[in-house]
Amino acid sequence: MVERTHILGVGHAVPDNIVTNDDLSKVMDTSDEWVHQRTGIRQRRHIAADCGATDLGKIAAEQALSCAGLTIADIDLIVFATLSPDIDWPASASLLAAKLGASAIPAFDVKNQCSGFIYSLASADALIRAGRARHALVVGGEIHSTGIDLTTRGRDVAVIFGDGAGAVVLGRSPDPQRGLLSTHLHAEGKFAEKLWLEGAASRSRPRIRLEDLGGDDPVAFPRMQGRYVFKHAVTRFPEVIHEALAANGLTTADLDVLIPHQANLRINEFVAGALELEPHQVVNNIDRYGNTTAASIAIALCEAVNDGRVAEGKLVCLAAFGAGFTWASALLRW
Ligand code: UT7
Repeated sequence: MVERTHILGVGHAVPDNIVTNDDLSKVMDTSDEWVHQRTGIRQRRHIAADCGATDLGKIAAEQALSCAGLTIADIDLIVFATLSPDIDWPASASLLAAKLGASAIPAFDVKNQCSGFIYSLASADALIRAGRARHALVVGGEIHSTGIDLTTRGRDVAVIFGDGAGAVVLGRSPDPQRGLLSTHLHAEGKFAEKLWLEGAASRSRPRIRLEDLGGDDPVAFPRMQGRYVFKHAVTRFPEVIHEALAANGLTTADLDVLIPHQANLRINEFVAGALELEPHQVVNNIDRYGNTTAASIAIALCEAVNDGRVAEGKLVCLAAFGAGFTWASALLRW
């Protein structure tokens, strides 16, 4: 039985193509002022040529492997978090495994929206500690730009989402004091319709019709009751962060770095205030990437490791809230 799992390597990848708020204002009724004031977003990345979430995921995964000093031959589990799989099925994890040249190791997707990366981390951690895997690759990857309504009708969601991928390699902690301390997962399906993408739906025949792409409220695009989601987010984030700290006999005074999901800078500022954290303790990059859902925490973690904000001995909390509703946290000693 492995005592503690640790993150041995990190990586991330975003498309080169930068789409600013001004760019979006040319195709829909929006403005840099509106988007920046409400969300903190200045720009996001959209793929320029067609590629899938696993293509970005592969680049992030290779970086994470190299950062960990390992190769794909050392990996015996792949978990891929995405709400925008390359294709409906089979799982994107299988496609990624093939692209990386993995042998016949277990690979599965976690489709849990913005909380997907922490759910994946928790799953891989449990399998490692149970002795079912030695090294796991956990990747969050999303391509939103091909699935959003880039017209005024879809502007509330379209300005928020961006494409990107982040990855970590997990393995046994070299030091029992360091590594993942605990993970905490929650879901409340009664709020599913507050933020969802209904079509293509297996419950309707046919699963998708041409008219699903039209009308005032088309089911083939993500739809959100933004204010409703916002209110739940600012409650659940502090709750699940406190839960993680309390489970380890710690308080917010012990916390060095918070890496929240990047849905809205205003949400993260509110959470920082509620927890009495200084702005420099909270990692935010939504201004540059928008909301990359299951990839956001992995990308932010990678950037914070690379610029030294996350360093050996630091107490780091990852926290997410999103569609489902789902919310989650992970506490780790780096
Ligand atoms: O990652 C998953 C979790 N997601 C979240 O946590 C998102 C949480 N929600 C939010 O971040 C915010 O609710 C939004 C940023 C999405 C929206 O901000 P808001 O202040 O709640 O705006 P609103 O939805 O109440 O809309 C206010 C107005 C509306 O116009 P009227 O009805 O007042 O005339 C919207 O039609 O703003 C309009 N609007 C826009 N205007 C310019 C909505 N989207 C846009 C836009 N540009 N992109």
